[in-house]
Amino acid sequence: MKVDVVLGLQWGDEGKGKIVDVLTPKYDVVARFQGGPNAGHSLEFGGNKYVLNTIPSGIFHEHCINIIGNGVVVDPVQLKKEIEKAETTGVNIRKNLYISEKAHVILPTHRLVDAASEAYKGVHKVGSTLRGISPTYQDKIGRSGLRIGDLIGKNFLSKYQTAVSNHKKLLDSLNYEYNLAEHEPAFFEAVEYLKQFKIVNSEYFVNQLISDGKKVLAEGAQGTLLDIDFGSYPFVTSSNTITGGACSGLGIAPQKINKVFGIFKAYCTRVGNGPFPTEQENETGELLRKLGHEFGATTGRPRRTGWLDLPGLKYAIMLNGVTDLICTKSDVLSGFEEVQVCDSYKIGSDISSQIPFDLLDETVIPQYKSFPGWKEDLTKIREYSQLPETFKTYIDYVEKQIEVPINIISVGPDREETIHKN
Ligand code: GDP
Ligand code: IMO
Ligand code: MG
Repeated sequence: MKVDVVLGLQWGDEGKGKIVDVLTPKYDVVARFQGGPNAGHSLEFGGNKYVLNTIPSGIFHEHCINIIGNGVVVDPVQLKKEIEKAETTGVNIRKNLYISEKAHVILPTHRLVDAASEAYKGVHKVGSTLRGISPTYQDKIGRSGLRIGDLIGKNFLSKYQTAVSNHKKLLDSLNYEYNLAEHEPAFFEAVEYLKQFKIVNSEYFVNQLISDGKKVLAEGAQGTLLDIDFGSYPFVTSSNTITGGACSGLGIAPQKINKVFGIFKAYCTRVGNGPFPTEQENETGELLRKLGHEFGATTGRPRRTGWLDLPGLKYAIMLNGVTDLICTKSDVLSGFEEVQVCDSYKIGSDISSQIPFDLLDETVIPQYKSFPGWKEDLTKIREYSQLPETFKTYIDYVEKQIEVPINIISVGPDREETIHKN
């Protein structure tokens, strides 16, 4: 038995939550491998919408084991809120949620340091979600972090205090005003609360499940173009969002990876700062934002919008070894007179389909191919054959360019609004 991976191929918010929920009936286990509550994964079914930040998106299926892997960073306060909210829907979190003892913990001071560093950078800020992600991963790499297993260990308080005193020095050096006492009671309450959940050695647990023949789906967060190594550095997140991240973030050997489902939107969005070659800062962009309800699931910030970027998509497919493509939000393009796709970039006098070292150092002019739009509402369509010919021309072109089959086309946020193509 092998592990399949689902991940985003753009700058996040590709619809990973919906797609994981759609695929979960075929799996026994869903495991998140990186990121933390910077993620906002939306799921819709039965007329209701749910947003998950840390809990894997398989949680609404009774049969499914959900694992928060070692590569994830966990904010106890946030996770407590999330669990309490999910429990109101009747799901059995206590039975189905497992948390890695090696996942790192986001402390209240990590969130403060995130806010302080962003404020200090001013106009050069990354535009982080302010969830404490970068400071927590910095402490992990700097070998001074706290892990979930520490919360139940006897040295928890002294480890906590050492970390906090380091963070205080940093906050003072950044001249940041804060009141830690406002945040600590909720943190310690959440730490106590989490002790009732299954805190496990998840690398043994997941490998045993694989040996027992269980089907595992690894769920990524963010997107490939936000990857710490391959994204538009420094405007990236602080983890490996690519397929390789599933190996290190769950303790799964590379040869155990089978399918890689890569998700892309039929256009592009980005939240926060950083280069975005096909961005449309005009009426087209506004229309995409309006029709696609492009506002962040975590922070509510308006998402920047633009046309599909094939050089970016090809890069992401290469890095991830994508075997199956999933195109989401196709319905949003209905009603546009024309739909554009960026084939390549003009950089100086060269035409290139590769991503340069630093997109901000270059004048990059996207080279577009234009397609006639379609007026039909796609949301009620369930068979590929019934999609408008104009849409099929667009999607066939994309598929030919990227040389990987598109197997699922999502035509709305609901579970049901999904077309299985092949
Ligand atoms: P994730 O972070 O990748 O899970 O994506 P988000 O949940 O942050 O953002 C995707 C948004 O698009 C959510 O509001 C989804 O409910 C919605 N969505 C997902 N797939 C589709 C689709 O095919 N069509 C439309 N219109 N909305 C979709
Ligand atoms: P999901 O899983 C979109 C962006 C932030 C910022 C940069 C760094 O829902 O797709 P961080 O808080 O990680 O230090 O912020 O990354 N970002 C996301 N953008 N979707 C996400 O997650 C994101 N998580 C982080 O906006 O630009
Ligand atoms: Mg999201």
